[in-house]
Amino acid sequence: MVWTSRPVKALKGNIRAPGDKSCSHRALIFGGLAAGTSRFTGLLEGEDVLRTGWAMEALGATVKQTGPGAWEVIGVGEKGLSQPEKDLDFGNSGTGSRLMMGLVSGYPINVEMTGDESLRSRPMNRILKPLRMMRGLDTAGPDGQLPFAIVGTESLKAITYVPPVASAQVKSAVLLAGLNADGTTIVEEARQTRDHTERMLRGFGVTVGTERLGAEGVRVSLEGGQKLTAIDAAIPGDPSSAAFLVAAGILSPQGDVMVEGIMSNSTRSGFYDVVNLMGAHLGAEEMGDAAGERLINVHAGSAQLSGKPVPERLVPSMIDEFPILGVLAAFAEGETVVTGAEELRVKESDRIGAVVAMLRANGVDAEERPDGFAVQGCGGPPPGGGLVETRHDHRIAMSALVMGTASQNPVSVDDISMIATSYPDFLSHMAELGADISEG
Ligand code: S3P
Repeated sequence: MVWTSRPVKALKGNIRAPGDKSCSHRALIFGGLAAGTSRFTGLLEGEDVLRTGWAMEALGATVKQTGPGAWEVIGVGEKGLSQPEKDLDFGNSGTGSRLMMGLVSGYPINVEMTGDESLRSRPMNRILKPLRMMRGLDTAGPDGQLPFAIVGTESLKAITYVPPVASAQVKSAVLLAGLNADGTTIVEEARQTRDHTERMLRGFGVTVGTERLGAEGVRVSLEGGQKLTAIDAAIPGDPSSAAFLVAAGILSPQGDVMVEGIMSNSTRSGFYDVVNLMGAHLGAEEMGDAAGERLINVHAGSAQLSGKPVPERLVPSMIDEFPILGVLAAFAEGETVVTGAEELRVKESDRIGAVVAMLRANGVDAEERPDGFAVQGCGGPPPGGGLVETRHDHRIAMSALVMGTASQNPVSVDDISMIATSYPDFLSHMAELGADISEG
């Protein structure tokens, strides 16, 4: 179903950022594993996260909603995960599926896993390889694309692993397997990725070591056999979802948008650093903390941006924000170049191809690079008028709709249904700000 976003003069208002997707997955997984009852508020009720909750239920936890965003999880505790009676379907979710692969591999159960068309095309050897090493198997094996079964074992051995790609999902899967492994599991990242697994496991009572490794890297270690204890926690706001609202405020001719309660964590803040480098002058004020994370309110007003090369060291900390950065680059003066971001090829879609196609469909000069893309900014509103193929990718859909709020002509997308995987309130939040987005 085609939806269209039409240009509007002003986008104004205060919106509370939706719960962070990464933290919401981990809350349900760790709560489901812990001894006792955990309670969460502000949980993201996107489809991806709900599927992680169902998966934990199938493995023996009790997961129930007690109010809007409020969830109670009774963990399996000492008895451990049990054999599920059906396949676990993770839908669109790379995070849910990959973290669960690590988790279940340390239990004597056989877990069939699958997902939607997009997830079934994504690479899983990056997870299967270290898990095979922990079983003492050589690393050869069937090519890893879902569906497949993880056959768990109680005799995992700790490993030291240096992931060949910067991926929090890989790091997290290895650490979760490490919880049930014999010895100390170590993951060494050349460039640190989001650290929610480490921080949240500590909240659940697990000792996780973190040491700096060179200028940008980190060595994370975790001793096997540790148990989790239930917690009560508020989920911080999602900086990746908030990025769409912030971009909308910057691009609007009369933009005055405040997004409240965004998690401020250096492993997630690359987008905010880059848009400030481009001239956005975002305002930030402290507003306390949640689950051990600092929270800020971010104010975004109209600004004329200048294109910039995106520093490669910031790539992991903005890995989900490149589609919306591409839109900002289209409005900027001059060239924006993204390099060192080949991981974008294996996200919910090939985001290098999808971003460039989105921009070109709207009259913007953009080109693919093997590891990124280059955009020649229009120095103001781009022509627009295009129909964007979203390729089942929620972030492409939201980026294109934000573009339409301030381009010369409306921008349409072929589908919006998958936005519900990560940001079910996106359309209502945009409408509250004054956007004109409707079917047809
Ligand atoms: C996530 C890690 C990132 C990110 C995804 C969420 C996580 O993926 O793109 O949206 O919660 O660990 P990679 O680890 O594959 O980079």
